[in-house]
Amino acid sequence: MSPSILLLFLFLFVTPSFSAFVAPITKHHVHNTPFYTLKLQLKTPMQPTFLLLHIGATYTAVNCHSNYTSTTSRPVPCNSSLCHSLRSNQLISKKCDITTNAAVGGNCVISPHKSFAMVDSLALQATDGRNPGKLTTFPEFVFTCSDESSRLLKGRAKKVVAGLAGLGVSNYSLPAQVSTNSSVFSLCISGSPSAPGVAFFGLDKPYYFFPGLDVSNHLSYTPLFSYHPGIFTNRKTETKQLKDGYYIKVKSIIINGKPININQKLTMISTTNPYTVLERTIFRAVTVEFKKESRTMKLKSVKPVKPFKLCYEADGVLETHLGPTVPQIKLVMQNDVVWRVFGKNSMVRIVDEGLDAWCLAVVDGGVGSVPAMVIGGHQLEDNLLQFDYGKKTLGFSSTLLQYKTLCANFNFSTNNAIKVF
Ligand SMILES: *[C@@H]1O[C@H](CO)[C@@H](O)[C@H](O)[C@H]1NC(C)=O
Ligand SMILES: *[C@@H]1O[C@H](CO)[C@@H](O)[C@H](O)[C@H]1NC(C)=O
Ligand SMILES: *[C@@H]1O[C@H](CO)[C@@H](O)[C@H](O)[C@H]1NC(C)=O
Ligand SMILES: *[C@@H]1O[C@H](CO)[C@@H](O)[C@H](O)[C@H]1NC(C)=O
Ligand SMILES: *[C@@H]1O[C@H](CO)[C@@H](O)[C@H](O)[C@H]1NC(C)=O
Repeated sequence: MSPSILLLFLFLFVTPSFSAFVAPITKHHVHNTPFYTLKLQLKTPMQPTFLLLHIGATYTAVNCHSNYTSTTSRPVPCNSSLCHSLRSNQLISKKCDITTNAAVGGNCVISPHKSFAMVDSLALQATDGRNPGKLTTFPEFVFTCSDESSRLLKGRAKKVVAGLAGLGVSNYSLPAQVSTNSSVFSLCISGSPSAPGVAFFGLDKPYYFFPGLDVSNHLSYTPLFSYHPGIFTNRKTETKQLKDGYYIKVKSIIINGKPININQKLTMISTTNPYTVLERTIFRAVTVEFKKESRTMKLKSVKPVKPFKLCYEADGVLETHLGPTVPQIKLVMQNDVVWRVFGKNSMVRIVDEGLDAWCLAVVDGGVGSVPAMVIGGHQLEDNLLQFDYGKKTLGFSSTLLQYKTLCANFNFSTNNAIKVF
């Protein structure tokens, strides 16, 4: 065998198949409240489509009851093997039984709201972790035809958001459908509405950000959990919202070196909650300690702005590249690794008629709220998070600002040499 043929054989048989994809994440606002979308190409001909980023949802949902035009879309028939598979993956409501769904024309009903499963073409750009590359089409992408995103956004932003992108633990989540290495995806949410952040699917490394920093070298890891019955020992009825989600265990919250023990509480990571939510007891302990520490730092309190409890006059607060200088918060994970939260992620600036304040971006979940802690979008901005459901780990960077980069610094110039093989 000639060396070149040998090389060709080596190339064909030794090279692992490679498929990793990338999509921009955009920050938007409705009435000053932020939300985040993933942009991808849907339908034939392809339409750029913004889907609400929902890491907990087990499938993608698109508002397609009216005005959905695509030459490749088709509903999934009720008695098809795909519909049976959706059912065995428990994505289908109990109401879906073949005899009663005549109302939706023999389609595969996927939720109690008469939403049905659809298949259409979806396209994403390949990536090597440095640039986006060629578009790859997934002709049989499965989603549900429903208004879930409108419900989550309370009917607002309908013009921008066509549905939601489900990144939860399921065989029909977006990562599972687009990647051979479905167990890993990463998010880097930008804090700026004018410069998008980035999502990677099926890529565990590298993640390059200008000026040439590979963030995969700066991740700390902690065990990642998904819902299973009994995960919440203090809960009788477990809602759908709890079932859809990724969790970590947080041991304590440290404020300027003063620890508040929270006893390894399950903490949900959420891209649909704008701010961190704490159960009442934890909320009180955190705000009392933060207030005490802010007094020693001579921050001047002002009347709080809803939904927040602690606000400070912006005038007296020093700003650095890590945001306003306020008491530093650290989350200590079950395995003792630490997620450091600086002012940029812990505080929001509120400017309104004669008011200019920094408020602690944490809200009160109420007595006994479950999960006891939800880490929301504002706290995730300019942090890279790697969800690896195969290894059951969450990798997190803490703020990228400490490395003098940002989630908006991914190079979105297309390099067509990058493709799946
Ligand atoms: C239907 O979709 C088209 C193309 O996206 C858009 O221009 C039009 O405004 C939409 N109509 C309604 C009623 O939403
Ligand atoms: C469903 O499909 C199976 C296998 O193709 C067939 O035997 C059965 O009759 C179908 N049932 C209905 C109600 O169409
Ligand atoms: C999900 O996919 C995996 C891998 O293909 C398979 O082993 C598993 O049985 C599927 N789960 C369900 C509930 O179908
Ligand atoms: C697939 O994911 C696993 C787990 O993160 C990783 O170890 C492996 O290198 C990945 N393979 C490819 C081809 O990306
Ligand atoms: C972005 O990527 C393109 C394509 O690979 C490259 O030509 C360009 O130099 C990169 N820009 C920066 C600022 O690194």
